[in-house]
Amino acid sequence: MIPPRPASAPRPDLPRFRHRHLLAISELSADDIGLLLDTADGYVAANRATTGKGTTLAGVTVMNLFFESSTRTRTSFDLAAKRLGADTVNMSVATSSIKKGETLIDTALTLNAMHPDVLVVRHPESGAVSLLSQKVHCAVLNAGDGSHEHPTQALLDALTIRRRRGGIEGLTVAICGDVRHSRVARSNIHLLTTLGAQVRVVAPPTLLPSSVERLGVSAHTEMRAGLAGADIVMMLRLQRERMQGAYVPSVREYFRFYGLDQDKLRAAKPDALIMHPGPMNRGVEIDSTVADDIQRSVILDQVELGVAVRMACLDLLVDRLRYDRAAGRTDR
Ligand code: CP
Repeated sequence: MIPPRPASAPRPDLPRFRHRHLLAISELSADDIGLLLDTADGYVAANRATTGKGTTLAGVTVMNLFFESSTRTRTSFDLAAKRLGADTVNMSVATSSIKKGETLIDTALTLNAMHPDVLVVRHPESGAVSLLSQKVHCAVLNAGDGSHEHPTQALLDALTIRRRRGGIEGLTVAICGDVRHSRVARSNIHLLTTLGAQVRVVAPPTLLPSSVERLGVSAHTEMRAGLAGADIVMMLRLQRERMQGAYVPSVREYFRFYGLDQDKLRAAKPDALIMHPGPMNRGVEIDSTVADDIQRSVILDQVELGVAVRMACLDLLVDRLRYDRAAGRTDR
C-alpha cells in the first residue's frame, strides 16, 4: 500500500504534475512536457549507478498489463519501478482470464480491487487505455494504445534529442515510414510541434494519414525531399499487425524507395541523428550500415533513456496520487 507523503517532503501544498493519468502527449502543455523531461534528466545518472534501489516509490505497487507484445516498454517500466523501490507485478495476458473471455473493463475492475497504485497498460485498440482509466482508482499510464499514442516513447525520444542537441526548438525532424498506423508518430508530432520543432512526415501516399497536415506537419512522399537538411531522421517500421490488405507493393520495393540507407541519408544534415523506436526491421525500413553507425545512430541511447523517462513518469504520477489521497480526493 502506498505510504503517505513523508512529513519532511519538500512539496507540501501542490503536486508537481497536474495530471492524474498519463494517457496522451496531446493532453500535455509545453510546461508539463518540460517538467517530465527535466525530472527524467535528473534520473539518468541514478539509472546508470549500481548503488541499489531508491526509496521514492517504496510501498507503491505498479502493475504492468500488456495486451500486445513488448520488449523495451514493458522491461523499462518494470526496471524503472524497481529502481525507485516499488513492488511490480507483470500480468501475462496470455495466461490470464482474458483468454477465458473476461472483458477489458472486468479485468481492470478486478485488478483495481487489489489496490495497485499505478497501472501501466498497452492495448491494441485506440482509446482503450483512456476508457480503462475511468474505471479505476489508481494512476494509469498509457504504454501504447492502437495507432493513437505512445506518450513515453515520445518523451524518451525528446530527451534523447535534447541531450544531444541541447533543445528541440528550431530543429527539423523527419518522421519516415508507416506514419499511418504509428502511435509513435502521433505522440512525437504532438510533442515536437508543441516544443517548437518543424516536423515533416515522409511516406508513400498509402502510409500517410489523411489530412496529416492538420497536425502542423508537412507531408512528403519522396525520401530525399523529406530528408533535405533534416537535423533528426526518425524511422518507423511497417506496422503489419495493424494493416488489413497490402499497403506497399513489396518489401524489396519499399526498401528501395523508403528504406534509410547511406545514400538517402546524404540528403539530411551531415550530423543528422538517426532514431528508431524499435523493434527495427533491418533491410525493410533501415539498412544496417545506418542503424549501426556509431557516430549518428542514437537508437540504443533511446532505449537507455527510456528507463529514466519512465522513472520520471512514475515519480510524478505517484506524487500526484499521494496529494489526492492526502486531500481525500480519491475514492480510496
Ligand atoms: N518502442 C517500443 O514500444 O518497443 P516495444 O514494442 O518493444 O515496447
